[in-house]
Amino acid sequence: MINDMQEMKQARYEPGQPRGAAQCQTCHRQEFAQWQANSRHATATGAESFHRMKAAFTNSMLLSGMMGEDLCYACHGSKTANEGVSCETCHGVAPAEQTWAEVHQQKYKPGLLGLRKPEFCLQCHVVKNPMSGEYLLDMAREWEQSPARKAGQTCQDCHMRWGQTVPIMGLILLGETVPPTKKI
Ligand code: HEC
Ligand code: HEC
Ligand code: HEC
Ligand code: HEC
Ligand code: HEC
Repeated sequence: MINDMQEMKQARYEPGQPRGAAQCQTCHRQEFAQWQANSRHATATGAESFHRMKAAFTNSMLLSGMMGEDLCYACHGSKTANEGVSCETCHGVAPAEQTWAEVHQQKYKPGLLGLRKPEFCLQCHVVKNPMSGEYLLDMAREWEQSPARKAGQTCQDCHMRWGQTVPIMGLILLGETVPPTKKI
């Protein structure tokens, strides 16, 4: 159980100081606009519900003593950046000392290969209660058992739209239809 707890609070993204989505916005206006307007990723560290639940969690001596708020930021995005699951949470931090050309060549372009796999989404979209081992959220199972899986469709196929002149963070399609959020 202790190992599980240590593992749970490890950030599911590259540590370090992100530049911030506004930097990416200067060249990727469309991705930025859609990420900001249509996805709960963008509000994952800012939402009131997040802070309310985090306070309840850290007020519990037992849980907080073992894990603290690191647990929450492990999936919801960097605390210091405070912009939720953001460009650099998924694509990796842009190191300040490199040119944009180098960052793209060395990190963002090769990185797309891993980002296109369902496992990339599932590292955050499977949530276990570290105390009981019970699954609070298991998108892996839902997807494994779905007809979409049999048809070879991945998370990205449905949640992001491609083939546009400018790549689109396609969570936009789900804006109106997402059912009430599961309680964690
Ligand atoms: C100075 C302009 C500029 C900035 C700033 C910028 N990008 Fe890009 N990005 C581009 C261009 C141009 C391309 C297309 C490159 C190509 O087709 O070879 C691109 C392509 C990409 C790709 C597709 C892979 C690739 O390299 O072709 C990803 C992913 C990406 N950018 C992520 C980001 C993220 C994340 C940030 C912010 C941390 C960012 N970009 C900031 C100009 C920029
Ligand atoms: C670093 C962790 C992380 C990764 C990686 C991640 N997500 Fe999320 N995702 C979250 C969190 C946290 C939320 C809930 C945010 C909230 O409601 O405050 C969320 C919410 C969502 C939602 C529901 C909200 C909405 O915008 O309608 C969808 C859909 C989603 N993610 C899809 C994906 C897909 C597809 C991928 C892979 C391409 C992915 N996620 C990768 C952490 C992650
Ligand atoms: C293993 C990754 C992971 C960890 C750890 C995690 N979350 Fe989440 N959280 C998610 C994902 C993914 C969602 C989106 C679930 C969905 O909509 O299917 C979510 C959703 C939420 C929501 C619902 C958002 C809303 O607006 O309704 C709240 C609140 C939340 N998390 C708070 C927390 C707090 C507080 C912690 C720390 C105790 C925490 N989470 C730890 C991945 C995680
Ligand atoms: C939840 C994770 C996630 C977030 C947040 C995210 N991206 Fe992406 N991005 C992806 C994935 C996954 C792909 C690859 C999708 C595919 O090709 O199937 C991608 C692809 C891209 C591409 C290349 C698209 C192409 O077709 O070549 C660019 C450019 C990009 N993202 C920029 C951004 C920018 C800018 C932001 C912030 C405003 C951002 N992304 C936020 C996961 C994310
Ligand atoms: C066949 C298309 C399809 C595939 C594949 C798919 N999704 Fe979804 N997903 C949807 C649709 C449509 C919704 C909107 C809610 C609904 O109608 O059930 C949704 C809703 C969601 C939500 C928010 C609703 C909730 O249950 O809390 C999350 C998070 C999510 N998907 C993540 C994922 C992840 C992670 C994967 C890959 C393991 C994935 N999805 C694969 C189509 C898909």
